[in-house]
Amino acid sequence: MIRRMNEASRPDRYALIGQPVHHSRSPVIHSLFAKQTDQHLTYELIEASPEEFEKAVRDFAADGGRGMNVTVPHKEAAFRLADRRGPDAEQAGAVNTLSFEADGGIRGDNTDGIGFLRDLTRNLGWSLEGRRVLVLGAGGAARGILPKLLQSAPRELVLANRTLQRAEELKARFRPLGRIDAVSFDALDDVGAFDIVVNATSAGLKGEQPPFPRSIVGKSTRCYDLAYSRGGDTPFVAWARAAGAAQAEQGLGMLVEQAAESFFIWRGIRPDTQSVIRALVAG
Ligand code: ATR
Repeated sequence: MIRRMNEASRPDRYALIGQPVHHSRSPVIHSLFAKQTDQHLTYELIEASPEEFEKAVRDFAADGGRGMNVTVPHKEAAFRLADRRGPDAEQAGAVNTLSFEADGGIRGDNTDGIGFLRDLTRNLGWSLEGRRVLVLGAGGAARGILPKLLQSAPRELVLANRTLQRAEELKARFRPLGRIDAVSFDALDDVGAFDIVVNATSAGLKGEQPPFPRSIVGKSTRCYDLAYSRGGDTPFVAWARAAGAAQAEQGLGMLVEQAAESFFIWRGIRPDTQSVIRALVAG
């Protein structure tokens, strides 16, 4: 009896797995959600290379873990690892939320797209309908947001990537949802300014700045970086401001929104995101 009571009072374990993860704000976000909704849980950071990824996930599940968030560069590997998947994950071909189910199965979901859309349209008040939209990068992060962008009826959606073939693959994958023009960075030189430019490359994480031409940004262009930084602007946001963008935002709001959706999948409770975004912005 005593043992069972102890077991019942043990917090449920969750974690973020990626490389790098040490600067992540996800543990703070999930502990604020847990406090707000009175949930008993812990949230850890697990650093794993692509070679270590699958074993690290299975070890965490075997140790009693209940779920994981997955970040760069493992979102496509997480998709392959999942035994069953939610519709957004199926559509994206990428998974950022794993749930370890009672029957031993692993469920994969993708909450990046919904988190992105909520931050852009609800929190920032940007509209996508009828706009010229450019997405930079064609990895796991881009996969999560492209279906939601296509469903938002932009006038034009251009996908530019360093490796053109990856952009072409996503163009073909999402063809049933709408039209994407796949191009290399060089081809952006003479296509003019966009209404919205989204950075979905992981270049900033490595302290690199890809060679985007300034001409993609005009004075009414709004730029959004899926990445966020712990202090100050991300390299892409700094670049966008220098290029004269009307607005340049980093992905902190998206991070909180996608986390809230993961929290809902795991706990069945939808936390308030506004107070958490305010707390993070304040420091
Ligand atoms: P994520 O889950 O963040 O999308 P990923 O699947 O590893 O991570 O994809 C990383 C993306 O950032 C890719 O589009 C990658 O371009 P390639 O497909 O050509 O590799 C892009 N990227 C990473 N570093 C870059 C750099 N220095 N310059 C340009 N693009 C870069």
